[in-house]
Amino acid sequence: MDFKTLIQKKRDGFALTKEEIEYFAFSAADETAKDYHLAAMLMAIFFNSLNEDETLWLTDAMARSGDMADLSGVEGVKGDKHSTGGVGDKTTLIVAPVVASCGVKMAKMSGRGLGHTGGTVDKLEAIPGFRTSLETNEFTDIVNKCGLCVAGQSGKLCPADKKLYGLRDVTATVDNMPLIASSIMSKKLAGGADCIVLDVKCGSGAFMKDKESATELAAKMVEIGKGAGRKIAALITDMDTPLGKNIGNSLEVAEAVETLRGNGPEDLTEVSLLLCAKLLELAGKGTFDECRELAKSKLDDGSALKKLAEMVGLQGGDAQYIYDTDLFPKAEFSRNVIAEETGYISAMNTEGVGSVCVALGAGRKRKEDSIDPSAGIILEKKTGDYVEKGEILAVLYCNDEVFLDEAEKQYRQSLSFSQTKPDTVSLLLGIVE
Ligand code: URA
Repeated sequence: MDFKTLIQKKRDGFALTKEEIEYFAFSAADETAKDYHLAAMLMAIFFNSLNEDETLWLTDAMARSGDMADLSGVEGVKGDKHSTGGVGDKTTLIVAPVVASCGVKMAKMSGRGLGHTGGTVDKLEAIPGFRTSLETNEFTDIVNKCGLCVAGQSGKLCPADKKLYGLRDVTATVDNMPLIASSIMSKKLAGGADCIVLDVKCGSGAFMKDKESATELAAKMVEIGKGAGRKIAALITDMDTPLGKNIGNSLEVAEAVETLRGNGPEDLTEVSLLLCAKLLELAGKGTFDECRELAKSKLDDGSALKKLAEMVGLQGGDAQYIYDTDLFPKAEFSRNVIAEETGYISAMNTEGVGSVCVALGAGRKRKEDSIDPSAGIILEKKTGDYVEKGEILAVLYCNDEVFLDEAEKQYRQSLSFSQTKPDTVSLLLGIVE
C-alpha cells in the first residue's frame, strides 16, 4: 500500500477501507511509516473526519497494534477510567486508588500531556524513579499485587496510539472527535478492564467546548465500549474553569495527595467522588449514592492514600514523596500575578491558562521536549471569586526566568472581570450510559 495515495484519498474526502485504516495504524505502531506521512494523514482526518466504521476500525486496529493486557488471571472486577483531557485534571491520581481501596482492581493505561492539557503519565513521572513504561506481564502483576496499576502506552501496549498521540500533540490535530474517541477507546480496550468510566470534559479548557459536542463524543465512546462488551458510562463534567488550584506535574501530585487526605479543593473532591461512584456502581458495589459514600470513606480513613503509595513503590517510585510532598523540588523562579482591578473573576479562558503552563515548561512544544516537573501555576483566585486590587491572583513557577514576563501577560489575558457575581456552573453537566 502506498501512504501518499492514502493521504490523497482522505484529503479528497473519501472514506478509507478497513485494510487502509489498519495499514495506517500498524505502520504507525511498528515505526515503518514516516512521521511526515502520519502527520499529513492526521491533518487530512482532522479536516475530513472519519465515519463511524472508520472510527471503529481505527480504534480496533490501535488496540491490536501491540499486546492486549490479559487480566483473566486477576481476580474480581477490573475497572478503568479516562478523561478526555483538561487543565488541572488530576482525578486519576485520586479515583484510581479510591476505587482500588473499595475492592475493584484498577488497570489503567494513561497518556502524556496533550496540547494545553496535562497527562497522568507526566504527573506520575514527577515522582523520582516512577516507571510508566511496563511490560504487559508486569502491568498485570502489579494489578494483582496491589489492586492498582497506572501505565503509559509502552512499546507493547497500544504503540499506534503512543506514536499518533505524540504527533497530534505537536501538529494541532488533537481536538478532533474520531481521533480522540479512537485514541481513548483503543487504550481502554487494550487495557482489558470490565467496567470503564469516562470523564468527558466540556468548556473552554476542554477539547469539546460545548455540551452538544461533549455529549456526541461521550455517546461515540460509550457505543464503542458497549460494542466490545464492556460496562461503560461517561460523565460530562465542567472544564470552563481549571480543576482544583494546582496546575503542573509535581504541583498536581501534591494536590491529589491533599485530596486523598480529605483536604482537597471542593471541585476536585466532588468530581473525583462522582467518577468513583459511577465506576463503583458499574462494578456492582451498590447504588450511585451508596458508592459515593463508600468512596468518601476511603478518603476519610486514609486507605486510598496508602493504596497510591503502595502502587508508587511497586512501579519503582519513591513512596516517601506521597507521604511528604514537600520533598518535591521547588521551581527556582516564581512570580505573583497581582490583581490590577477590583471585581469578580467572571470567566477564565482555561485553554489559555493551560497554554501558560506549557509555556512555563510543564508541557511540550515539540515532540522531543522534556517536561519540567516543578513548573506550573497555583491559582489563588478562580471564576466566581471576588478580588480586591493588589491581591494575588496566581503564582507562576518555572526554572527559566525568561518565561515569566510573557507567561504573566498571557495569564492576565485569560481572565475576565465583572462587577457582578457570575452564575455558578454545575460540575456535572450530564451522564451518558
Ligand atoms: N486522551 C487521550 O488518551 N487521547 C486523546 O485523544 C485525548 C485525551
